[in-house]
Amino acid sequence: MSLEPNTHDFEASLARSTQRSREIEAQVAKDPSKWRVLTGDRPTGHLHIGHYFGSLQNRVRLAGLGIDTMVLIADYQVITDRDGVGPIKERVYSLLTDYIAAGIDPEKVTIFTHSAVAALNQLMLPLLSLVTDAELRRNPTVKAELDDTGDRPMSGLMLTYPVHQAADILFCKANLVPVGKDQLPHLEQARVIARRFDERYGRFDPDAPVFPEPEALLSASGTILGLDGTKMSKSKGNTIELRMTADETAKLIKRAVTDSDRHITFDPENRPEVSNLINIAALCLDRDPVEIATEIGDGGGGGLKKLVTAAVNDYFAPHRARRAELEADPGYLHDLLAAGNAKANEIAEATLHEVRVAMQMDY
Ligand code: TRP
Repeated sequence: MSLEPNTHDFEASLARSTQRSREIEAQVAKDPSKWRVLTGDRPTGHLHIGHYFGSLQNRVRLAGLGIDTMVLIADYQVITDRDGVGPIKERVYSLLTDYIAAGIDPEKVTIFTHSAVAALNQLMLPLLSLVTDAELRRNPTVKAELDDTGDRPMSGLMLTYPVHQAADILFCKANLVPVGKDQLPHLEQARVIARRFDERYGRFDPDAPVFPEPEALLSASGTILGLDGTKMSKSKGNTIELRMTADETAKLIKRAVTDSDRHITFDPENRPEVSNLINIAALCLDRDPVEIATEIGDGGGGGLKKLVTAAVNDYFAPHRARRAELEADPGYLHDLLAAGNAKANEIAEATLHEVRVAMQMDY
């Protein structure tokens, strides 16, 4: 089957979103009070340095600008493409710990899980009535994720999780969603759902819709590859996890793939593995990758790995120290999540009430 028409649509939508993201950044800087951010992660593993530079830093920055921010640990989304939940509790707490260690302020930011917010999940029901199965079946991200699972049949949840994700965003009326480009189809679906709800049940007042249309804030995700030169993946074991010790990090980097040219250059096109390692060092050292490569020169793969190991371990030492402190106080983490879930429930119940009023189901 040809993907071309979709690919074309996708390129156009990516270009639009990139341009729009720039405009939003300018507006946010002027008036952060107009925005509510909702972002989230699936607890399918532990967070790694790709998450850190790709999304955690950005969340800290947005919340630091004074934007009202909600972070979802999307536990129900774990079971879209696999049979069991895995060590879910450990993973949920691992994510929470990394959020706080990275500088997300739990006093200001609401961190919560799907499964604890009944009203959010109930919202999915009316929202499902607003989409067609053809629409769901052509979502390119869902297709790609299903392909990644091999021969798995499409489950009902896999097909409809973009609607659940729309509920994640709409329950708290978030109008800004920082995402990588793979999430753009989901964002577009959420926008369509918001619009259709108001067309069908809304107050027909464009200035006071039940749901605002959320906008994507594109983040530069995917700039770091795994240590084997392929896409970073929680399940491939090719990532430097934030929770790793300095020793574990050193061992992992020692095994990283390089190439046979001893002279180190920064050349992402022709030397993706070597350039990726240089990139990781550049992010940690806040330095220019070309300069780093020149400095290593004939030091070869060994010299490069030594520099990257030191850079990563120095940069993440404070994060890892905060992480260890937090892990030593599970009661504190538990209370944080309980407070976040209570706040999310309050918001979800208020929105569900509005939805029931709009649908004349407020008996
Ligand atoms: N699907 C997202 C991912 O895989 C996680 C997610 C769930 C999410 N709900 C969300 C992201 C709502 C943004 C908004 O990364």
